[in-house]
Amino acid sequence: ELPNRLMIVSNRLPISIAEQADGTPTIKPASGGLVTALDPILRQARGTWIGWSGTNEADQTVDQLLEHAANSIGYSMHAIHLSQEEQEKFYLGFSNEIIWPLFHDLQSRCNFDPSYWTTYEQVNRKYAETIAQHYRDDTYIWVQDYQLINVACELRQLGIDAHIGFFLHIPFPHIDIFLKLPWREQILNGLLEYDLLGFQTNRDLNNFLICVEALLPDVEIDRSGEYPLILHADRNPTKVGFFPISIDPQEFRAAAHTPNVDNLYSQIREAFSERKIILGVDRLDYTKGIPDRLQAFSALLETYPELQQKISLTQVVVPSREDISEYADLKQTIQQLVSEINGKYTKIGWVPIHYIFRSLPREELLAYYRAAHAALITPLKDGMNLVAKEYAVCGPDDGVLILSEFAGAAMQLSEHSLTVNPYDINGTAQALYNAVTMPRLERIEHISKLRHSINQYDIYWWVDTFLQAANVKRSGAIEQG
Ligand code: UDP
Ligand code: G6P
Repeated sequence: ELPNRLMIVSNRLPISIAEQADGTPTIKPASGGLVTALDPILRQARGTWIGWSGTNEADQTVDQLLEHAANSIGYSMHAIHLSQEEQEKFYLGFSNEIIWPLFHDLQSRCNFDPSYWTTYEQVNRKYAETIAQHYRDDTYIWVQDYQLINVACELRQLGIDAHIGFFLHIPFPHIDIFLKLPWREQILNGLLEYDLLGFQTNRDLNNFLICVEALLPDVEIDRSGEYPLILHADRNPTKVGFFPISIDPQEFRAAAHTPNVDNLYSQIREAFSERKIILGVDRLDYTKGIPDRLQAFSALLETYPELQQKISLTQVVVPSREDISEYADLKQTIQQLVSEINGKYTKIGWVPIHYIFRSLPREELLAYYRAAHAALITPLKDGMNLVAKEYAVCGPDDGVLILSEFAGAAMQLSEHSLTVNPYDINGTAQALYNAVTMPRLERIEHISKLRHSINQYDIYWWVDTFLQAANVKRSGAIEQG
């Protein structure tokens, strides 16, 4: 049972504003795992979502579009507007050139520009002010992800002492990496302003606790209860736990089996005739291991030439954060690798890699899941990776999941997937070979076990477990004691 008044706060709203051909603005769904996971929850709770609309300045048409969309979506949205400078220093800068790469263990991709932090604080304050305008005493405020770590701290400064929850969708790094952050104390203290902190995996939670113990000598950790409690002298204790995020598998399965998807599925199968499809689906991101994956596919064709013409890789890349040079460079690298590999191996009527660089309509994505013999999911590091869960649920009953051991999802799914070290090109090629040659009965057994686990630990399990840990009552208020 969800609370009556649930407020989700995330950097981005679940929709973004796009321009149509004639220049008029329209609404399209935003991409990424956070939105996939939280949208069904907020629909059910009929709550409120606060976030950025992706546009630049305060714009009345945005607010009107959102109000209009609320009727069909089933919950209300309030937009945060970011100036050009805020976008650059808060969103692209502190969030995505510092926290994102560092927390994914890629410190060499960080740009520790000292001017980013103040804008991060300012924009977090802006979110806090918008929350303050829309919340009531019985609202449960639930802040999401690394862009908004400081929101509770800003809310406290505005005099709001409500119970506030936070969930980190990305990994929390090992202390050796976290120590490099010039704002490491501020970030830890910011997190400790929340009453409940959720991480994706046990490893993330432990990394966090080790950092707290090492860097904040005057806090104490009480491990006697179900969830560890971080105790500090001058504020409320912070409860911490891990809550692996998930999807609504029933809804995904139903959506994957509509007449429209049947139709698209037949078209894909016909176009590929008897060939096996290996599928990759990722946002454009250097954490996803796309170049290494392309190289592994190339190594497969090299080592097992008998597979040529019998197998294709379809790689979907959803455009993301292209204003950051690391992302723009990655796009070039991927394009170059795809054309090199295709140039080398293409034969009459067979192209080894089908490359799609755009956001796919949901029905088409689901049709690809259904058509794929295996999903190849090889992030160098990932908080969870919902594509893995989506494929397991929507893919064929005898599909194979090839999964990086460094995805949060591996903590739950590794037993029934082929796990790989994404840095090991030959090892990944071998896993692909094993996926193609695995006996059908074995594949069926593994997929059914994966589905069983995802059905059990679905997105409703996730939200219930988190809200129970937060002591949120159905009214939205907090159970005291
Ligand atoms: N996705 C999307 N548009 C697409 C392809 C995929 O919105 O064209 C979705 C996909 O269904 C999944 C999400 O994007 O729910 C990606 O989530 P994941 O956790 O795998 O990675 P993230 O992008 O959050 O790092
Ligand atoms: C990941 C992050 C989300 C983010 C999404 C899309 O899922 O955990 O917080 O919203 O990527 O990235 P973007 O920068 O476009 O919001």
